[in-house]
Amino acid sequence: MALPQQPSPPTDDVLSVEDLSKRFGGVSAVAGCSLSIQRGTITAIIGPNGAGKSTLMNLIGGLFPPDSGRILFAGRDITALPPHRRAELGLIRTFQISRELAQLTVFENVVLAGQTDALESPFAAFLRPRQVRREERQLGLRARALLERVGLFRLADEPAASLSGGQKKLLELARALMLDPQLILLDEPAAGVSPPMVRELARTIRDLRDEGLTIGLIEHDMELVADLADRVHVLAEGSNLTSGSFREVTSDSRVVEAYLGIVA
Ligand SMILES: Nc1ncnc2c1ncn2[C@@H]1O[C@H](COP(=O)(O)OP(=O)(O)OP(=O)(O)O)[C@@H](O)[C@H]1O
Ligand SMILES: [Mg+2]
Repeated sequence: MALPQQPSPPTDDVLSVEDLSKRFGGVSAVAGCSLSIQRGTITAIIGPNGAGKSTLMNLIGGLFPPDSGRILFAGRDITALPPHRRAELGLIRTFQISRELAQLTVFENVVLAGQTDALESPFAAFLRPRQVRREERQLGLRARALLERVGLFRLADEPAASLSGGQKKLLELARALMLDPQLILLDEPAAGVSPPMVRELARTIRDLRDEGLTIGLIEHDMELVADLADRVHVLAEGSNLTSGSFREVTSDSRVVEAYLGIVA
């Protein structure tokens, strides 16, 4: 029988996962993982290939439910909430610009990310034309400000397909920012991005953190993790092996072994 829950002491955690597990057939992708992300930090999740990082990210985003365990966001149990409800609460993960979106301009991509269901309804313009026009104008202003913010303003009218890998990542960030997030989750932001653009991306991510946003990222680029992360969680075989500063975790022999174990 479950014991009555003790009220937990207040923490600065914006997100915490508790004893989370997810199996795919015979594979334990995430196995009893517990970790947290503190408000106002850049927190990196690292670990060898197959450690369960993307599965953990998908569980946090709500793409599929865990087999067991809990996910708390801003002190609230969100384990059973669908992705759009998590997004409404301010938990946003970025998504690659799809082939359909790539046909639209950079500006249109950002505006679309901010459109609510009410605005998308085909009847909205008919029922409340003035309100819809005002909302569209506000979305446009906000989109331009965010494009300025991520350094893509001069490319606003270009098709998204014409952007470089790094510029697409900045566009993904602008799209996420339209939803007014508390926490943004990024899966390998530096993958396929040229070194100068990685530096620009890093600068933008750090500025956003300094403005109060919380950022969680999965990343294989250790230079970027060393440069950006306030705190690092190391995942191995589906659970949290250790946590600490980049320097702390990389001098931990168990972490070195976890990485070497994959190479061997
Ligand atoms: N949809 C799925 N169906 C079956 N097995 C899966 C699925 N997704 C992940 N796995 C397995 O779960 C384990 C963890 O995979 P996951 O993609 O979460 O690791 P990762 O840490 O993101 O790895 P990488 O660094 O290579 O991206 C792996 O053994 C993987 O093969
Ligand atoms: Mg992955």
